[in-house]
Amino acid sequence: MNKKIAILTSGGDAPGMNAAIRAVTRAALQEGWEVFAIYNGYKGLIDGELYKFSRKDVSEILYRGGTILGTARLPEFVDPNVRQKGIENLKKYGIDTLIVLGGDGTYHGAQKLVEMGINCIGIPCTIDNDIVGTDFTIGFDTALNTIVNAVDKIRDTSSSHQRCTIVEIMGRYCGDLALWAGICCGAEYVIIPEKEFNRQELLDNLKTHHDQGRRHAIVLITEKITDVEELARDTEEYTEFETRATVLGYIQRGGSPSGADRVLASRMGAYAVELIKQGKEGRCVGIIDNQLTSTDFVEALNGKKRQTNDNLYNVFFKIR
Ligand code: F6P
Repeated sequence: MNKKIAILTSGGDAPGMNAAIRAVTRAALQEGWEVFAIYNGYKGLIDGELYKFSRKDVSEILYRGGTILGTARLPEFVDPNVRQKGIENLKKYGIDTLIVLGGDGTYHGAQKLVEMGINCIGIPCTIDNDIVGTDFTIGFDTALNTIVNAVDKIRDTSSSHQRCTIVEIMGRYCGDLALWAGICCGAEYVIIPEKEFNRQELLDNLKTHHDQGRRHAIVLITEKITDVEELARDTEEYTEFETRATVLGYIQRGGSPSGADRVLASRMGAYAVELIKQGKEGRCVGIIDNQLTSTDFVEALNGKKRQTNDNLYNVFFKIR
């Protein structure tokens, strides 16, 4: 089967994207297929930034963070005329399948291409771990470790100064990073979007904590829930605990992928090629109970995320 496939990365970069690019390229080349790399996501697809990749093009990238292909968010891709330009570029090179690496914005774009007759395969890459049809996304484990590292340092200062620190964590509308990090770091409190935020309960908890003479308190909160600077001011006023807010920001997205992310990306990349070999169309790679699997884009975009959160949330509050 002489196939021509293309690969792009889109949306926020995630550690392990390069490992997945390498896995897809090498597995496809082993099948005797041609592989085209598209630079700068869907924008590059529209602008015709396609280059043929060899085995050597993916050497020395396994351990690098970010994406060697570059990435972009392209809101204009909702316009069918814009997408049509991309499709013409794929046709020009005789490409029959497009592998997209990214999160749900990327999947939305791919689903639209599938509806226009282009076969796409999705590989979930985002630090947020918010994709349906997979227990883990590529990049989550690395970001978690980065956060744990940062919070461990913050705790040293909090404890030395007898302070409360409120740390804002990425995740968009998914609390996995904050919750997992809360367990890893022994935080005093976690606030995640899946659970209603009770401000008064938090303040009362922290007041008790402070009145008991504890040296520090760490609160982890997913971004977009509340203004953390304001929350820090309220906390200090109500509890008399000197309080600071820290927004971890973009240190969470970069960095060399963890071992777990390198393995996950390698497995998922090779599996994407396997799906194409089996003639599967419009599928998104996932891993459930450590077994590789796939769902279609519609399900991945509209289905309900498997709730591992409830169990973990309960564990957090039992052991904090
Ligand atoms: O999806 C990854 C992520 O880092 C989210 O956690 C965050 O909300 C978003 O991307 C930020 O996106 P951008 O860098 O495009 O502003």
